[in-house]
Amino acid sequence: MANPCRSILFVCLGNICRSPLAEGVFRAEWQRIAVAPLLDIASAGTGAWHAGAPPDPRSVEIAAANGIDISGQRARRIDVRDFDRHDLILGMDRTNVETLRAMAPADGRAQIHLFMEYALGEAREVPDPYYGGAGGFADVYRMIRTASERLAERLAGSSSGHASSMT
Ligand code: 4NP
Repeated sequence: MANPCRSILFVCLGNICRSPLAEGVFRAEWQRIAVAPLLDIASAGTGAWHAGAPPDPRSVEIAAANGIDISGQRARRIDVRDFDRHDLILGMDRTNVETLRAMAPADGRAQIHLFMEYALGEAREVPDPYYGGAGGFADVYRMIRTASERLAERLAGSSSGHASSMT
């Protein structure tokens, strides 16, 4: 079997718009399919500007409109220890992935991938919605929802009740 996946970290720039949504939506999806309480699901940003802040109100709102409460999350900057703590680190855009790969210790345990590419096989980015309007957040939500459903199914499907595997 491929390596077990027990811990996923979603990463964007600020950790207030996209990755908190990904954390909340993926967690809800994982709980919905309820295979096993295996996954440690978290998020972080490559930047520290918003450290300690709750998610952007527009992300809180689109999540709440879909039955998911992300209001308790707090932003934090990725730490070098994250590369050993997590099996899988998924960046929302290519810049996130480049930053992560540049930071990663050579012997880090985490696999680093672009979220949409890893989940859907589509080399697309989840675009930064920070400077746009509510429509951008709705688009981002839909992308994250689709990718999270597929990723959860895939990890659950290969779990056999004990561990989820990564390919
Ligand atoms: P995120 O969005 O990376 O999806 O959390 C952003 C949040 C804040 C900023 C940029 C992107 N900012 O420049 O402060």
